[in-house]
Amino acid sequence: SYEKIWLALGLGLILLLIGSVTYGAVGPGVSMVAADQPTVDPTALDEDDRFAEPRVEQVGENEYEAYVVAFQFGFEPDPIVLPANSTVTFMVTSRDVTHGFEVVGTNANTMVIPGEVSTLTVETGGPTEYGVICNEYCGAAHHGMEGSIEVV
Ligand code: CUA
Repeated sequence: SYEKIWLALGLGLILLLIGSVTYGAVGPGVSMVAADQPTVDPTALDEDDRFAEPRVEQVGENEYEAYVVAFQFGFEPDPIVLPANSTVTFMVTSRDVTHGFEVVGTNANTMVIPGEVSTLTVETGGPTEYGVICNEYCGAAHHGMEGSIEVV
């Protein structure tokens, strides 16, 4: 009957969901990190194409990538200068301990873990300025760890 078919389909979906969650948690590689998560050697950032010179790069007509390094106790570059009305993907890593990268007053917020590259895509809107703060405790001057973004 149709009922049995729908029941079977429903169970199949549930099993698929359980399968994918389990895979994500205990699959190969570091736990809870997707297999395609970009990684980086935090002790050799100065030899990494992306992070040797933290910067903003144009990658499309209105598309940019911002390579940002967090460290005790700041962000580089500072300020991060972004073109208005564009799509920007932040690629953020740390050269020492775990930090946060939060654009104050927005929902742009990510943890920054040494060895990993956190990505975050935003639309910049019109010209303005934002503060950037660290929201993971990272040492004595954590509360003073700040950066800035200028949208021009
Ligand atoms: Cu960096 Cu708190």
